[in-house]
Amino acid sequence: MKKTLLFLCIGIIVYACNQPTRQIARGPMAKNGMVSTAHPYATEVGLEILKKGGNAFDASIAVQFALAVVYPRAGNIGGGGLMVSRTADGAFQALDFREKAPGLAFEEMYLDEEGEIIPKLSLAGDLASGVPGSVAGMWQIHQKFGTLSWEDLIQPAIDMAENGVALTKGEAESLNRFAEHFNENNEEITSFEAKDTWKLGELFVQKELAETLKRIRDNGPDGFYKGKTADLIVEQMERGGGIISHTDLEAYEAIWRDPIEATYKNFRVVSMPPPSSGGIAILQMLKGSEYFDWQAAGHNSAAAIHYMTELMRRVYADRATYLGDPDFYNVPTEMLLDTTYLKNRFSDIKSDIKTPSEEIKAGEVASIESFETTHFSVTDKMGNAVAITTTINGAYGCKVIVKGAGFFLNNEMDDFAIKPGVPNQFGLVGAEANAVQPGKRMLSSMTPTIVEKDGALFAVVGTPGGSTIITAVYQTVMNILEFDMTMQEAVNAKKIHAQWLPDLVYVEEGGLDPEIVKELESMGHELKTSPILGKMNCIRIGDDGMMEGAADTVRSEGTSLGLP
Ligand code: DON
Repeated sequence: MKKTLLFLCIGIIVYACNQPTRQIARGPMAKNGMVSTAHPYATEVGLEILKKGGNAFDASIAVQFALAVVYPRAGNIGGGGLMVSRTADGAFQALDFREKAPGLAFEEMYLDEEGEIIPKLSLAGDLASGVPGSVAGMWQIHQKFGTLSWEDLIQPAIDMAENGVALTKGEAESLNRFAEHFNENNEEITSFEAKDTWKLGELFVQKELAETLKRIRDNGPDGFYKGKTADLIVEQMERGGGIISHTDLEAYEAIWRDPIEATYKNFRVVSMPPPSSGGIAILQMLKGSEYFDWQAAGHNSAAAIHYMTELMRRVYADRATYLGDPDFYNVPTEMLLDTTYLKNRFSDIKSDIKTPSEEIKAGEVASIESFETTHFSVTDKMGNAVAITTTINGAYGCKVIVKGAGFFLNNEMDDFAIKPGVPNQFGLVGAEANAVQPGKRMLSSMTPTIVEKDGALFAVVGTPGGSTIITAVYQTVMNILEFDMTMQEAVNAKKIHAQWLPDLVYVEEGGLDPEIVKELESMGHELKTSPILGKMNCIRIGDDGMMEGAADTVRSEGTSLGLP
């Protein structure tokens, strides 16, 4: 009898040990604040500010300037961005510091006499740059919510530019990869010396950028939009055939806009209004998601991918037609988020066969060198939360460094529909709503988003990735709301992407089992592999108030650090 019992016990133990256990990946946890950014030094700068008693807004300003130094492929003062935030009192804000078309811009500016697109004109060189918004944006945030001094928030960036930082592996590789482009687009380069031998650990010093940052530290936005920095930008334009003028710089303003929101089951999701397309699109997809049983389908099952793809293609078709700068075009935001409208819009989704996107023939997503934007999320112990996505569009923007000022200008003009119906670098098509006009903001896909659960802060999310930003943010949110993942698991999970045109489903490398691929193909989907989808930096807050920081440590060098 004793022997039988012993065997039974051993049997139970062996059985239990053989059962697959779920490996839970979790990011760092902390109670009093969390910073998650794409670069380890920028994360440290943000944490230091929290330690000094600064709030999430202070830390975000310091991170934005730090990224401009240590992550020049996307961090910037020569670009723009979007912020969605939630203050401790539960109020939400949206700040638009997107670049604007210069006053001399016009609809056909990137077309030749036959009306054909002049290759690369909206992507590389001075003419590709919109009027930068980042410095004005940071100033607005500081004026409204800053508690530490402006000087103290910029100083860490100045120190890193002046004394240099040891290059990370990713940064050294990135500088080497783009050396040729820096050469092509600049007469003279100082810090970004066009060599291809940058090494891990090498000291990277940016004296000119340090001087520019000091002017911003000492004079606020006037240190960028007026005086010496402005003169250097305008001189650069004259040398390189660009059109940004002193008037454009002086007239630039960051704008507080009303955030947009929708509920998904018992969650409240708040995101960026136009000129972002991301907010409307993610809310449309989430509202459409309420019609399907995701738990029955299962994460990354053929059924889940099919339904997500069908939602995505309809939402991106709306994007192409209706979305643009609301100051120039009457964007029908309310209609696009109306429950009845969306019910009808998604009512023709079939369970077993795809709906082809056949209206307009668009090209493939062009394989350009690299897409680079960056997102960071910050929370503090007071209950404030900040989601900022900031960009110069392509890696190192238009590759032009403002001579004497040491920073890259953006190539955001390519985010306009430079010719109706013709895809941009992300394969996105657009029309009148997003045509070039002087002073207009180009449509963005950036989707900084905040989720509340039962009235409490629940998640802060965002990512780079051009047109794939919206779908990566959507899937990350779905992963935590529907698929029971930690924030880190949601970030790590393989993603898919569809955008109406081209009529394809992009699948992240190694993302799907061959059987699922077959099942999707039998429903009519054409699949294409994509090397990476999403490079998220997110924070999730548990019911106990613990904050989980989740940087994408698989696809990037990002880190999260918490204040215990
Ligand atoms: O605003 C936009 O939609 C684009 N300029 C973002 C570019 C981007 O995300 C590139 N990086 N990964």
